Amino acid sequence: MRVLLLGATGTIGQATAAALVRDGHEVVCLVRDKSIAQRNDLAVKLQQQLAGTKLQFGDALNVACCAKAEWLQPSFDALVSCLASRNGTPRDAWAIDYQAHADWLTLAVAKGIRHFVVLSALCVQKPLLGFQQAKLAFEKELMASGLTYSIVRPTAFFKSLSGQVKRLKQGKPFLLFGDGQLTSCKPISDHDLGQFMAQCLTDRQLQNTILPIGGPGPAVTPLQQGEYLFELMGMKPQYKRVPVALMDTVIGMLNLLGKVMPALADKAELARIGRYYATESMLVWDQEKQAYDEQATPSFGEETLFEHYKRMVENNIDVPLGEHSVF
Ligand SMILES: NC(=O)c1ccc[n+]([C@@H]2O[C@H](COP(=O)([O-])OP(=O)(O)OC[C@H]3O[C@@H](n4cnc5c(N)ncnc54)[C@H](OP(=O)(O)O)[C@@H]3O)[C@@H](O)[C@H]2O)c1
Repeated sequence: MRVLLLGATGTIGQATAAALVRDGHEVVCLVRDKSIAQRNDLAVKLQQQLAGTKLQFGDALNVACCAKAEWLQPSFDALVSCLASRNGTPRDAWAIDYQAHADWLTLAVAKGIRHFVVLSALCVQKPLLGFQQAKLAFEKELMASGLTYSIVRPTAFFKSLSGQVKRLKQGKPFLLFGDGQLTSCKPISDHDLGQFMAQCLTDRQLQNTILPIGGPGPAVTPLQQGEYLFELMGMKPQYKRVPVALMDTVIGMLNLLGKVMPALADKAELARIGRYYATESMLVWDQEKQAYDEQATPSFGEETLFEHYKRMVENNIDVPLGEHSVF
């Protein structure tokens, strides 16, 4: 198939590009110039990561301008989007996770693109945050569009659970919220999620549906992640426990100050995002039981978080979070 990929320079975008190429598709990636020009260290890596694809430069948020581009002729069989707000603030999320996607959807319909695959997030099932509401609003439009759709809602990514490895290497304690067992998740690797995104194009069971998806193996709590890492690194367990009430106090203060200083309103939202992930599991939510359900959370792929930790520690690797550390 001829596939247009948005957000190809991101963590899952790169993995999805590689998977689409492996699967034999003709892949065109829309990349903003900034990624190549300003971040030279990334340029070499990108050329390797997006190998086998064709790069086109343009502003994914300016769809009217892209619509006139020659590379949109002939049109595409499918549009795959891993485009997402990098900072998670409501303004950015509504501009990117909602509006840019809504504009691409309009263009896809006009150009006869038959299938739209979008990277969403499992947490939109309990939407308390601005970026979740923006994603949900687009999901609804996509489902009503008449196009074939695949809405991929993954659990936690490895990168979001890897920051503590660096802390431990620096001799700092493992950070826990509450007792470290308030939440659990079934982490999915970039490679496996990229493959799942690509598979949506050819597997009919992954079409016209919402797809919650986790990685292989049982769900893990933050405490289990800490226990595993201390054993792996041969270190004496050392935890710093942050009470949820403390986060609530900070959020309350930022909320108040945000009314007079807009920059602090963004910080309040980031704190709310932190609190959400500290207290909500990344598993399928059972509305009837009002509880998260590990068994109802599908698994895909082969790479486990603990294998990833082992590789990080044995090869002394840090996971780059890019310009942001929110997602
Ligand atoms: N982290 C987790 O555990 C987790 C779990 C489930 C779901 N998710 C969801 O996954 C998404 C994040 O995926 P990811 O980590 O792969 O994303 P990412 O690494 O942050 O990449 C975001 C992509 O969007 C592009 N982008 C962002 N703002 C743009 C703009 N203004 N104009 C043009 N392009 C723009 C970026 O391009 P540049 O490279 O040019 O900036 C990049 O290609 C989020 O929606 C999150 O909710 C995350």
